[in-house]
Amino acid sequence: MSSFQIIVGSMLGGTEYVAEAAQEVLEANGHTTEIHFQPDFDKINRDQQIWLLCTSTHGAGDFPENIENFVHQLKTSDHNFNDLPFLVIAVGDSNYDTFCEAGKSLNNIMLDKGSKQLSDLLTIDISNIDDPELAANQWITSKLDLF
Ligand SMILES: Cc1cc2nc3c(=O)[nH]c(=O)nc-3n(C[C@H](O)[C@H](O)[C@H](O)COP(=O)(O)O)c2cc1C
Repeated sequence: MSSFQIIVGSMLGGTEYVAEAAQEVLEANGHTTEIHFQPDFDKINRDQQIWLLCTSTHGAGDFPENIENFVHQLKTSDHNFNDLPFLVIAVGDSNYDTFCEAGKSLNNIMLDKGSKQLSDLLTIDISNIDDPELAANQWITSKLDLF
């Protein structure tokens, strides 16, 4: 069984529901989780954890405000991330040129830090998907063998 830190970037609340849908699947399958709606980098456990980063994109490819500090601290941190596997769920709208840009950036930042990507990121296009929570549920269910 694994332990997850679920880190959420959201402006309007939609990605919080997406993250909770993934959390439900993980817990139903015996994993432990902690979810962070106001992520504080220094308080998020990195020891023997998997990070599940879920973020929407706002502005023109920007991070939601609630996660900006976290992203800055992550980028400038000198911690060793080599033993910290991660996954990203990116929520966005393909009507924007910068579709899911924040999630894609976060994925790249984690790779730059030396963290191990467990799977390709999931992009959820709210203009094409009726039920984003179901999409997250199905995706994380399909990854359970990895944990
Ligand atoms: C002002 C505004 C700007 C947005 N900019 C982008 C964008 O650049 N790229 C993208 O993929 N989606 C963009 N979106 C779509 C949001 O990511 C989408 O509505 C998402 O579901 C919001 O999630 P949240 O409720 O967790 O904040 C934007 C939405 C708004 C309202």
